[in-house]
Amino acid sequence: MISDDSGLLAAFVAQRMEMGETEWYFKPDMAQVKNAGSAKPRPAHVTPSAAAAARTGQEHPAVPEKDAGECARPDVSEEAIRAQSGLDELYGAVCGCTRCGLGSLRKKFVFGDGNPDADIMFIGEAPGADEDAQGLPFVGRAGQLLTRMIEAIKFTRREVYIGNILKCRPPGNRDPKADEIEMCEPILIRQIEIIKPAIICALGRIAGQTLLRTNSTLGALRGKVHDYHGVKLMVTYHPAALLRNPNWKPGAWEDLKFLRREYDGLEIV
Ligand code: URA
Repeated sequence: MISDDSGLLAAFVAQRMEMGETEWYFKPDMAQVKNAGSAKPRPAHVTPSAAAAARTGQEHPAVPEKDAGECARPDVSEEAIRAQSGLDELYGAVCGCTRCGLGSLRKKFVFGDGNPDADIMFIGEAPGADEDAQGLPFVGRAGQLLTRMIEAIKFTRREVYIGNILKCRPPGNRDPKADEIEMCEPILIRQIEIIKPAIICALGRIAGQTLLRTNSTLGALRGKVHDYHGVKLMVTYHPAALLRNPNWKPGAWEDLKFLRREYDGLEIV
């Protein structure tokens, strides 16, 4: 009965409107919507921000400050990155990184956030001002839209893992430079090796082009399954771009449904 599901219906409509849809056709009962592919339960995440979340009960607490000793290893080597076997260890090994010039400009190192056992990883380009201030990825307006995009395909933000190619904010949010990518990408690759996601969703042209080492347009990259270090990767619009161009939301919604279908088709061990 719809009257019993008014909250659910309102959430459904709000999500679809967010993604640019304007018409819906409902069957008499809402069972289909209710059961639409909820993701398998996952353990709560255990990254530093999760520990703080457990303490504070906040969804996005500030990352606890590591003391100077813990994050005082500026000369992070690729061997040291590869040697870390868990996300917490990796974070501890790299959070003081100054391998590129951005290390000395940052307020906070933005390692990543979410479920360390996630099947799906969302990867953006680099932290912005809000992320630099809080030490967490995608916490500004674009991040709030990303949360709603994730929820539109029946996942929660805590079930997935969210990260960036660069862990430190480029000044003025300029595009990442080649040397910064070269220095920082090994951390992302190690994160992926540890998390072992089944699918990666690259957010935006720059993330897609950078990870796939291509100059192809976003239009050419969307709607396909690519390979990144042995993991399926798809590309969609960056949520910040969707905030600037809401007319792209229907396309993003198609990409999200594509992601959900790919996920549903997987045999996840
Ligand atoms: N844009 C990104 O690409 N990453 C963030 O974390 C925030 C905004």
